[in-house]
Amino acid sequence: MLELKNLYFTVPISDNGNSGERNIIDGINFTFEQGKFYTVTGPNGSGKTTLAKLIMGINPISRGAVYYEGRDISSLTITERAKAGIAYSFQQPARFKGITFRDLLTMATGIEDEKQLMDIIFHVGICPMSFLDKEVDAKLSGGEIKKIELALTIAANPKLAIYDEPDTGIDLWTIGPMVHLLKKEISRHPTTTIVVSHNRVFLEAADVVLIIDKGKIAFSGDLTDALPFLTDLNVCTYRDSCGGNPDAE
Ligand SMILES: Nc1ncnc2c1ncn2[C@@H]1O[C@H](COP(=O)(O)OP(=O)(O)OP(=O)(O)O)[C@@H](O)[C@H]1O
Ligand SMILES: [Mg+2]
Repeated sequence: MLELKNLYFTVPISDNGNSGERNIIDGINFTFEQGKFYTVTGPNGSGKTTLAKLIMGINPISRGAVYYEGRDISSLTITERAKAGIAYSFQQPARFKGITFRDLLTMATGIEDEKQLMDIIFHVGICPMSFLDKEVDAKLSGGEIKKIELALTIAANPKLAIYDEPDTGIDLWTIGPMVHLLKKEISRHPTTTIVVSHNRVFLEAADVVLIIDKGKIAFSGDLTDALPFLTDLNVCTYRDSCGGNPDAE
């Protein structure tokens, strides 16, 4: 359903006057199957958000291709991908002064009926009555804005849903129900779900766990097989080279 073919995201770097390139996504090949739940994890800075943004078209592909339902969508815009059924929920959602949650929901879904809108919001653990006419601005808490972002993505009823750290800043009371929600309980058709997360709850919920390390897929498979990789990943790659290793002689 979604195929990544030799995918690269490369940026220019300059180090002490020398210029070069860095492959933030470094030749990824992977096929996501329809209706499955994927949890993408890996160390900070390993390329998870970048990969998600390449799929949505937020970052331009440097090399390789993204195929969706058999079609090369590499050159499609974000809007064209959204129309094709792909939705994306940001790690750090945008805030909009003067626009209410109701406005955004109606824009995302075309739904104006209050009862239908409330049904959607209720599922993400926020009180519909008090939220619907809130401005999506700087006054919202970090968790509140994440819940709004989540509701907007779910409300779009996508065929492919991508959530970048949906649980960041979310209270413990919401995370459990959120997992069930993302496992498409209110979906009107089989959704392929890609969740970027460091949270064990999402790892346990996954049909397939993907571990990204230094822009490559270090592992893909089920959680039991992933555990040795998760515990063995050398997160502090600078430990021996930056002089900060307290164990060094
Ligand atoms: N457009 C860009 N130009 C230069 N560097 C970038 C760009 N986008 C991302 N990076 C760098 O690429 C690396 C991977 O970033 P990314 O946001 O994908 O990490 P991540 O795996 O999502 O990390 P986290 O778990 O902290 O969210 C980081 O070092 C980041 O600074
Ligand atoms: Mg990230």
